[in-house]
Amino acid sequence: MNRQILTDSEIPMIPVISESEGKSLIDRLEQTRALSRAEWTALIHGRTPSLAEYLFERARRTRIRYYGKDIYIRGLIEFTNYCRNDCYYCGIRKSNKNAVRYRLSKDQILSCCETGYQLGFRTFVLQGGEDGWFTEDRITDIVSEIRRRFPDCAITLSIGELPRESYRRFFDAGADRYLLRHETYDSAHYSRLHPASLSASHRQKCLWDLKELGYQVGTGFMVGSPYQTAENLADDMLFLKELNPQMVGIGPFLPHHDTPFAGQPAGTLELTVFMLGLIRLMLPKVLLPATTALGTIAEDGREQGILAGANVVMPNLSPAQVRENYLLYDNKLCTGDEAAESLKILDERFCAIGYHIAVSRGDSLNTENSDAPG
Ligand code: 5AD
Repeated sequence: MNRQILTDSEIPMIPVISESEGKSLIDRLEQTRALSRAEWTALIHGRTPSLAEYLFERARRTRIRYYGKDIYIRGLIEFTNYCRNDCYYCGIRKSNKNAVRYRLSKDQILSCCETGYQLGFRTFVLQGGEDGWFTEDRITDIVSEIRRRFPDCAITLSIGELPRESYRRFFDAGADRYLLRHETYDSAHYSRLHPASLSASHRQKCLWDLKELGYQVGTGFMVGSPYQTAENLADDMLFLKELNPQMVGIGPFLPHHDTPFAGQPAGTLELTVFMLGLIRLMLPKVLLPATTALGTIAEDGREQGILAGANVVMPNLSPAQVRENYLLYDNKLCTGDEAAESLKILDERFCAIGYHIAVSRGDSLNTENSDAPG
């Protein structure tokens, strides 16, 4: 490998790498779990279909070493689509007057959990916009009640940027995990995706707070978001390495017709699965979802995600009537295999590629036995 062109430099020139240089970067990533910023940039920029296949083989091997062929499930409850923020990419941004807004009541949320529990879910992810109606007291009350009724389940919150003190109260009430994508590490890029009231540094501070409080943390970013460069993705990889989260959620950017980014091109399946493979090799044990956005961009997107190293899916447990209103981007999957009721169909699709959904009763949905996941 030509070391000279792979030094960290401020010059915004991306070195062209050969196939064999690419392979040796992937080998070293597998062995050392780390690359420099210039190396990440070169590898991402210089990827080819055959390098991707080389990467996926190694990513699958790593995934199978730690998780076998199990796919873990997390039940997603999208409980409010009101949001105080105005992110340029997001369909539920405050300024979107065409969004049909809804909030689930505490009883509706609890009945989603009940349905999910019967289906075999043992993790509930309460995700919503940053909705002031759900005050600290209301969230604390909901979390306490879920904790009381489902003592053997993990409670995950995904409700955005809040004061450390609020995070602490939710944790004390029984929340175990928190999902907050950093979206993009670079502050200049972050500013091109968000209004001035939001900053990359505050987003990152929230993640460090959550971690310090004892939450298992999930973060992540959109792939192919407007103005994103290979250097931006390199910075995202370095940030993931530093934060060392339990989960990393990534998916392609998909335009929503009622946002300022309506006319921007979507991210690609190809780059998203490449990034999944890289993340699997860098953080071997991380929980890596094949996200809804991945399933939306291509019919077999989630299967391709699994084959690149992903090991989690997050089916929707929200009531069918509201699902179609939680539209972060156009054509978001909200019926069919995405629905929790169709868990068995989803499992059959994964079985066709040699994997299976692991449910907590200790048996799989189909005939084969599998061990209970955490
Ligand atoms: N395309 C893809 N992902 C999106 N998200 C929000 N809007 C979009 C979009 N248009 C992602 C963000 C957010 C998560 C809940 O959904 O990364 O953190």
